[in-house]
Amino acid sequence: MSTVGHVHEASASFKNNALIDAATYRSWYDASIRDPEAFWSEHGKRIDWIKPYTEVKDTDFTLGQVSIKWFADGTTNVAYNCVDRHLATRGDQVAIIWEGDDPTNSRSITYRELHGEVCRFANVLKARGVRKGDRVTIYMPMIPEAAFAMLACARIGALHSVVFGGFSADSLRSRILGCDSNVVITADEGLRGGKRVPLKRTVDEAIQGCPAVETVIVVRNTGGLGDKITSHPRDVDYTTARAKAASDCPCEEMGAEDPLFILFTSGSTGAPKGVLHTTGGYLVYAAMTHQYVFDLHEDDVYWCTADIGWVTGHSYIVYGPLANGATTLMFEGVPTYPSVSRFWEVVDKHKVTLFYTAPTAIRSLMGAGEAPVKRTNRSSLRLLGTVGEPINPEAWEWYYRVVGDSRCPIVDTWWQTETGGHMITPLPGAMTLKAGSATLPFFGVKPQIVDTEGRVLDGACEGALVIADSWPGQMRTVYGDHKRFEDTYFATFPGTYFTGDGCRRDQDGYYWITGRIDDVLNVSGHRMGTAEIESALVAHETVSEAAVVGFPHDVKGQGIFAYVTLMQGTSGSDDLRKALSAHVRKEIGPIATPDVILFAPGLPKTRSGKIMRRILRKIAENEFHALGDISTLADPSVVEDLVTKRRETM
Ligand code: WT7
Repeated sequence: MSTVGHVHEASASFKNNALIDAATYRSWYDASIRDPEAFWSEHGKRIDWIKPYTEVKDTDFTLGQVSIKWFADGTTNVAYNCVDRHLATRGDQVAIIWEGDDPTNSRSITYRELHGEVCRFANVLKARGVRKGDRVTIYMPMIPEAAFAMLACARIGALHSVVFGGFSADSLRSRILGCDSNVVITADEGLRGGKRVPLKRTVDEAIQGCPAVETVIVVRNTGGLGDKITSHPRDVDYTTARAKAASDCPCEEMGAEDPLFILFTSGSTGAPKGVLHTTGGYLVYAAMTHQYVFDLHEDDVYWCTADIGWVTGHSYIVYGPLANGATTLMFEGVPTYPSVSRFWEVVDKHKVTLFYTAPTAIRSLMGAGEAPVKRTNRSSLRLLGTVGEPINPEAWEWYYRVVGDSRCPIVDTWWQTETGGHMITPLPGAMTLKAGSATLPFFGVKPQIVDTEGRVLDGACEGALVIADSWPGQMRTVYGDHKRFEDTYFATFPGTYFTGDGCRRDQDGYYWITGRIDDVLNVSGHRMGTAEIESALVAHETVSEAAVVGFPHDVKGQGIFAYVTLMQGTSGSDDLRKALSAHVRKEIGPIATPDVILFAPGLPKTRSGKIMRRILRKIAENEFHALGDISTLADPSVVEDLVTKRRETM
């Protein structure tokens, strides 16, 4: 690689071997925008179809009639594409490398073994009456059975809803209820950084409020529950059930637009929404982006450090890599256990070539200095990636220089749960990289930057990021609430998909994501709605009102800042702060723990009672001189109180 300032050019040898060069990117991109129908008609063939499609793109972004269909008359099966079709050519190739939390624990699963495991799991589900269209909740640690379970659902046409194993019983319950799921798959316990996570116990607590749940399948992981792995007639011990299940199970023929999965994600208002992805377009898009963005070659060992509870785990641990017949690594643990060298030790142990992680992990490891990285070899690495939040140029340069030894291009991939796959991202052999920029759109993606009135801006500019036309990986609806889908994404700037992100475009046409411009927080790459945290806080008996905003945080990217007004007669104390934090953890999960709780005698409101978040953000950021006009507030004096209190917290 050569470097000028923050601009990096891939080496000649990387470029010579890359799948896509600059000229190919240009010509394919132009073709994909000029004639999406022809472009995707060609690239849709990358997966195997049972009945080939004749229709390609049938999409409408008009508010009131939003409808998104791709390859609609084709039929296929996702598990067939991720498993069965590879058996003839790569049955003995490793599909999944599993690296346990304990560094002495790992496991390799070939495509042939994967086939047997997915079929067995599918047969266990079928034996419990699970059928096409049913919703199955998966609340699992990062063990191979989580991937088997997802693929088993896909095989029989059931929808999975994976819930991150760090969510609380309350959060799990609302997600089970939110998609009317009557089956839950879990494990006895998870293991992270040497600590046990009581998954089954949390499931038991959650489903006290879910009368429809008839089956809980429990995978033995730590063995920590011993014989008490099942404690209720609805519980199924997976080890026993698996032993009785046949190792073959036919694939259900699915329409391209039949649902594949639901994934709950936070928005700016209300409870998390069930993002619905369907079969054909999603798989084509996940697989194609995975191949070209990571420049996937035959002997690559690919590792994405995400959790399968997030979309990154769906598209880029399970579906994209396996559809491409790749070797994908699944990691149960955390970056800092047993030591801060763990990531790089795993890279050396399994000769990882493509490594994909979050900026927050890079920033936290940066804090431990270069030595823990440099004492590992890492010579297998040839490409690095990031996802989840903007990466600051300092962290980018450190990742590039220290982790990649100034040899590996970095792909900074911008996308969302809703987009199914990468949207704005480098193709590493085709783009000159700029530290901090996600660079240019993927094939078929038509980004636009608009001002607050929705006027499309040209050239170098900054504004809201919208996407002007559909792409195959796009979410199809909010599960059970199509109106909410339209209102959330298509009402703000009619005729386009609104991303919720702000963005700058530079003179070279490169995109720089500036972060969310709605009331969504991005804490360590985890997405959270301010409204969710607020409602958790006001559910506490001492709280009368709460307002939550994000503020810059060195490691997490954004921290959670909570302004809390207490009930009359209650006074704020450190103990109460602790109690409120514990309460939020219980209601949502540890990832939602506030970083700062400020007891506010009053909140800045307009005369009509609307909380002025802009002011709260500035106070949280310590930008006391940039509060703007406060004269329109019902009671401007509350601002001075808050500033004084904020100074005390520092
Ligand atoms: C939001 C989506 C996409 C998988 C993980 C997060 C932010 C994501 C980047 C990036 C700057 C990014 C955006 C986006 N984001 N990737 N490369 N640069 N910001 O998925 O939970 O749906 O969150 O994450 O703000 O809207 P998600």
